[in-house]
Amino acid sequence: MKFGHFDDSRKEYVINTPKTPYPWINYLGNQGFFSLISNTAGGYSFYMDARLRRITRYRYNNVPLDMGGRYFYINDGGTIWNPGWSPVKTELDSYECRHGMGYTIITGKKNGLKAEVTFFVPQNYDGEVQQVVLTNESDAPKDFAIFSMAEWCLWDAQDDCTNFQRNFSTGRVEILGSTIYHLTEYRDRRNHYAFYTVNDTIDGYDTDRDAFLGSIYNGWDNPETVKAGKASNSFADGWSPIASHYKKVTLAPGETKTLIYILGYAENPQDKKFADTKPEGLLTREAWVLNREKADAMIEKYNTPEKVAAGLEELRNTWDKLLSIFKVDTPDDKVNRMVNIWNQYQCMVTFNLSRSASYFESGIGRGMGFRDSNQDVLGFVHQIPDRARQRLIDIASTQMPDGGCYHQYQPLTKKGNSDIGGDFSDDPLWMILSVAAYIKETGDWSILDVQVPYDNNESLAKPMLDHLTVSFYHIVNNLGPHGLPLAMRADWNDCINLSCFSDTPGESFQTYTNPKFKAEGGYSKIAESVFVAALFTYTGPAYVGILEHLGKTEEAAKAQAEIDKMKKNVMESAFDGEWFLRAYDANGEKMGSHECEEGKIFIEPQGFAVMSEIGKDVGADIKTLNSIDKYLNCEFGLVLNNPAFTKYYIQYGEISTYPGGYKENAGIFTHNNAWIICAEAYVGRGEKAFEYYSKIAPAFTEETSDIHKTEPYVYGQMIGGKDAKNFGQGKNSWLTGTAAWNMVAISQYILGVKPEFDGLRVDPSIPSAWDGFKATRQFRGDTYEIEIKNPNHVCKGVKSLTVDGAAVDGCIVPVAGDGKTHKVEVVLG
Ligand code: GLC
Ligand code: GLC
Repeated sequence: MKFGHFDDSRKEYVINTPKTPYPWINYLGNQGFFSLISNTAGGYSFYMDARLRRITRYRYNNVPLDMGGRYFYINDGGTIWNPGWSPVKTELDSYECRHGMGYTIITGKKNGLKAEVTFFVPQNYDGEVQQVVLTNESDAPKDFAIFSMAEWCLWDAQDDCTNFQRNFSTGRVEILGSTIYHLTEYRDRRNHYAFYTVNDTIDGYDTDRDAFLGSIYNGWDNPETVKAGKASNSFADGWSPIASHYKKVTLAPGETKTLIYILGYAENPQDKKFADTKPEGLLTREAWVLNREKADAMIEKYNTPEKVAAGLEELRNTWDKLLSIFKVDTPDDKVNRMVNIWNQYQCMVTFNLSRSASYFESGIGRGMGFRDSNQDVLGFVHQIPDRARQRLIDIASTQMPDGGCYHQYQPLTKKGNSDIGGDFSDDPLWMILSVAAYIKETGDWSILDVQVPYDNNESLAKPMLDHLTVSFYHIVNNLGPHGLPLAMRADWNDCINLSCFSDTPGESFQTYTNPKFKAEGGYSKIAESVFVAALFTYTGPAYVGILEHLGKTEEAAKAQAEIDKMKKNVMESAFDGEWFLRAYDANGEKMGSHECEEGKIFIEPQGFAVMSEIGKDVGADIKTLNSIDKYLNCEFGLVLNNPAFTKYYIQYGEISTYPGGYKENAGIFTHNNAWIICAEAYVGRGEKAFEYYSKIAPAFTEETSDIHKTEPYVYGQMIGGKDAKNFGQGKNSWLTGTAAWNMVAISQYILGVKPEFDGLRVDPSIPSAWDGFKATRQFRGDTYEIEIKNPNHVCKGVKSLTVDGAAVDGCIVPVAGDGKTHKVEVVLG
């Protein structure tokens, strides 16, 4: 069952009912100011950091689920409704929500009155513009009232939802004309404020939540002021400050009125916080005067429909440009819409927000992840390489001199988060992968010379290359009894915690390590991760390639020897006969072996082991892939492990605490499905690769949205696996490494257009039924118009490759570097 449709020409998903199986959201903003917006206008805004600089309040895990947002209420002759249906939930005569690239348009109609609201954050602008177009489509004049509503968060989202004894007494606001200012703590310790304005006169306002609602027993669905058709002109003094504008509107039949609201954020330099003179008409309780220059300029910028149209046009052009860097035309529309539009869009969102703020991430729990953000770069780097470069430097700056890493950092401070700490065994390797991806995309080797601090300490700065070296050797220097990498607190799988042995509620599986390992340095020196071994052999060659390019042959040979040794160790101790083991636990027992009672096979190490060609000579690669098909494949994707754990295995950590079929315990973790897609494509089984791709790519799940629940235009982290009662049900949409990895899987492995240090590889691995496909790729200043022909209907194998008619050996298109367009023709066979 569907709840809307794709409108590819406008790059939008069009939702035709407010009652989607879960709030279907979009993100506005892509640099400083961000908003989350659901299809019923729920959600919130923040600046840079969802935890430390929250602008509007949102109650997670609420009942009803998505209650709280930026709401417009209309009282038309006593009928009260919202253009997005919620929160009043009056049945609308028609409803539509269009989620587009950085904007959302919600249109509702009731009793001949149409309200179309466009929400967006303009480029380089710290505010959300909300344009409300009201049209009287009836044949009688209309007199009605419109109320806006935004609830302020007192800046620190964590404190805001816990520290009530203080917060209920600190709220401060001011009103000047049609602008309501939020000024909590401004005088003392903050130099930022927020405002909510409308480009017209108003007939009243409310800034106190309880006054707006009329009673502490009312919810957003039942504000007394709206029912009364009149604001109460309340002035917040502590409690919960809000901003609501009240406006009376009269429309003749056919007449339209446009109102432009702006929810903005501004910062003043310390010495320019205050103004000397009080503006006339200012409603305030303060003895000091806010310097309003920034807000004034921001309001001026979008105070007419023409300016709003120009801002939207600029945003559209920005996205059209970003999405023209890589474009494909394949025989499958769903592939086209994923690659050309939605997957790339999601990659920008994950790049911006890591795993911080979504409808499943509260914006409080996590900042930027070391592992996560490095992987996000893989799917984003071609879009804006300069931003990727800066991100890589920021991430590397939180690294420790020995190659260890803070697992997370806060975007606002860019400092490592010591609550979570480090010792996640896979973290350093992702840094090698992402820096290599950046160089392969841009050819900018100078990034390796940039002086990058360790532990955010400038005096410890070393060239970026040094960071890669310590990353590589952090693995080599931390091996266990089988010569495999120590598992430490966790590897990619946050829930395999082999040093934890937790039997006490409340202990975090990621940060708690059993005191029995204290003497050994905090974690078991026995437990080893086969996943990290495979990731090491997959990533290591990029490090070697970098050293070779720099002419550091000795160092390259030394590193290569470590990779070879690791492959040997894996084959000797970690190949289970039909697939690779998952780990050795702290008791030295195998995890993920046919000898185990449950959890006999795990997905994570397999793809990287296959792509590293570990044991290829004895057929380990194909055996492994066949085992995955046999044990992990099901209707909605590949489960993470099988059989699911039904008991608590204290020695494994969090994993077996989940009911079977969910999350890391045999859920379909789409992120590592991508690694198998890559591996299947790598060995040339394009059909299998495509089968797995089409099971999880959102556009393909659109028809089963009632089962899948989450947005059909973006990946979620997890789908209920075959052991789950809710088999096929998606969760944790938007902020997942799947976005980047499935972008890599489809573009670089299946479609086979893959940047390399010395050019653009074109080596597809596609369903044999395809006659071919076309792709456009901008790469290092040139444009490549690629045409793939598949006359013999094979999956993989480049028979010939020509660039502008001239034959090229192999499948790497050399960099032309002339800024021109080049025709690449590839014949498979
Ligand atoms: C989540 C985390 C990611 C981790 C994965 C598996 O998606 O963000 O860092 O690798 O879970 O546990
Ligand atoms: C990841 C995992 C989740 C785990 C969490 C801990 O998100 O998916 O299961 O509990 O990390 O931070």
